[in-house]
Amino acid sequence: MIILEHPKQVQAACQSWKTAGEIIALVPTMGCLHDGHLKLVECAKQYATKTVVSIFVNPLQFGPGEDFDNYPRAFADDAEKLKAENCDLIFAPTAESFYPSDFTTRVSVAGVSEGLEGISRPGHFDGVATVVLKLFHATLADVAVFGEKDFQQLRVVQQMVRDLNLGVRIVGHPTVREGDGLALSSRNRYLSPEEREWAQRIAELSFFTREYLSGNAGATVAELTQAVEEFLTRAPLRIDYVRMVSSADLKPAGVEDQVLQISDPRLVLAAWCGKTRLIDNFPLERNR
Ligand code: PAF
Repeated sequence: MIILEHPKQVQAACQSWKTAGEIIALVPTMGCLHDGHLKLVECAKQYATKTVVSIFVNPLQFGPGEDFDNYPRAFADDAEKLKAENCDLIFAPTAESFYPSDFTTRVSVAGVSEGLEGISRPGHFDGVATVVLKLFHATLADVAVFGEKDFQQLRVVQQMVRDLNLGVRIVGHPTVREGDGLALSSRNRYLSPEEREWAQRIAELSFFTREYLSGNAGATVAELTQAVEEFLTRAPLRIDYVRMVSSADLKPAGVEDQVLQISDPRLVLAAWCGKTRLIDNFPLERNR
């Protein structure tokens, strides 16, 4: 496994692979890898002959007052895990090598980036799109794998790839969850044992919504949203948003629409559990 820091070194290594006919899959990460990331690596291997994992806590996607400085970093541990997964290359740029002092470009994906996280975290998706585009260029990726936990991010990247004809195949991987259903996230490690118990409410939402809809098949978006909010706040969670959207374009459903009449409905939410902001999303079906 090679570890490289500079985009030019990575591009040269990837170019020589391409010349030799290799297919390159990229798994972009911010490090502090958990089993969810490792599943993305496993998935990437099915699509390619060379797997590159980038590890970079991207300052551009953090707003003022967010957790950039405290974001967990564990490079040595990450490298060990990736070696065990037979990753071929870790790309671990420094902020200086990736964003030199005269760097001024931002990539902005209108539409799908504007609601939900785009409202709560202004500028976040410009930071994500900019770094992802740079990662694609550095690694010459044919395929890139993203977790569905960050569902809006996945849609933003897909839109960017379409709009800019990037020719990178984007694979969405189902959210990897703990035994009780909590989505794996590097931020889960911020949770105290008590907060982890509160977070269980979020973990149980898939079950809750399924039960609710099987007893209330005609429920409207407003009714289900209210029921979900009541369910979540039985624990001391602070809801940022709970929305019902269409999975295809993340457009919000009308409050009077019947949930099960919406095409491919998805519940998306963000909630504060103590000082930790958790996001999640669940496809809604009557019976699964
Ligand atoms: O999902 C993440 O970890 C990040 O947003 C990503 C895609 C690596 C870009 O920094």
